[in-house]
Amino acid sequence: MAWNPQTYLAFADQRTRPAADLLARVPGLRPARVIDLGCGPGNSTALLAARWPRAALEGLDSSAAMLEQAGASGVPAKSIEAPIASWVPEAPYDVIFSNATFQWLPDQAALFPRLMSFVKPGGIFAFQVPVNFNAANHVLMLETARDPRWREALAQVREVERGSAQAYYEILMPHAAALDIWTTEYLQLLEGEDAVYRWVSGTALRPFVQALAGEERDAFVAAYKAKLNLAYPRRTNGTTLFPFQRLFVVATKA
Ligand SMILES: C[S@@+](CC[C@H](N)C(=O)[O-])C[C@H]1O[C@@H](n2cnc3c(N)ncnc32)[C@H](O)[C@@H]1O
Repeated sequence: MAWNPQTYLAFADQRTRPAADLLARVPGLRPARVIDLGCGPGNSTALLAARWPRAALEGLDSSAAMLEQAGASGVPAKSIEAPIASWVPEAPYDVIFSNATFQWLPDQAALFPRLMSFVKPGGIFAFQVPVNFNAANHVLMLETARDPRWREALAQVREVERGSAQAYYEILMPHAAALDIWTTEYLQLLEGEDAVYRWVSGTALRPFVQALAGEERDAFVAAYKAKLNLAYPRRTNGTTLFPFQRLFVVATKA
């Protein structure tokens, strides 16, 4: 499933804000080894570099295009191209950080304890995932995907994982000395035409669009875009209001 760093970075400020808010809740420590899982184009990794300039910093991602962009951004991190689920580190970390990535990974009940096992005792496992599943952009995407014109072609497209605060507490509690879990709703102010469509094009919509081609793809996009523009009208000042809910977890390893 291909990622496009430029499409993703069109909303770099809004996408990086939750990483900064997550990092602000990571307690004071002087980490020697830090990794950013699903580092993307390096925007979240840059925050880690600024907070801990002396740490040995790594950025891991399964997308070569994203890692290339991260390298070009000049962020001082060692780049690792690997899928998170099967990745095995050389040594444990003081901090494992991840912003806006775990929603793409299934079987989190097994994944999170595995990742916690790569954290040093007293170290931190911190992540953020979107949880806006009941929002119109998400509901309308699935509704559009059920249209008989392409329902079969999209049947195999896997939905993003639906995380919940309680579920993450249950998964992580046996491995944690402390847990800090919260949700935040950002009122994102997006500029320009088809703003919400452009936002989801960089993330959740990609697997649907990539499963279609030609006229079918164009018709799917047109149908979804029309619904989005009704649900999220552009105001006369050019701004589109796009509320967005995110879930944050900071776990201290026991
Ligand atoms: C939404 S971007 C997040 C980028 C950045 N961390 C940020 O804060 O904006 C998600 C990133 O996770 C990566 N990713 C998704 N699934 C992955 C997996 N299974 N293993 C490694 N990276 C993955 C994607 O390639 C993409 O760069």
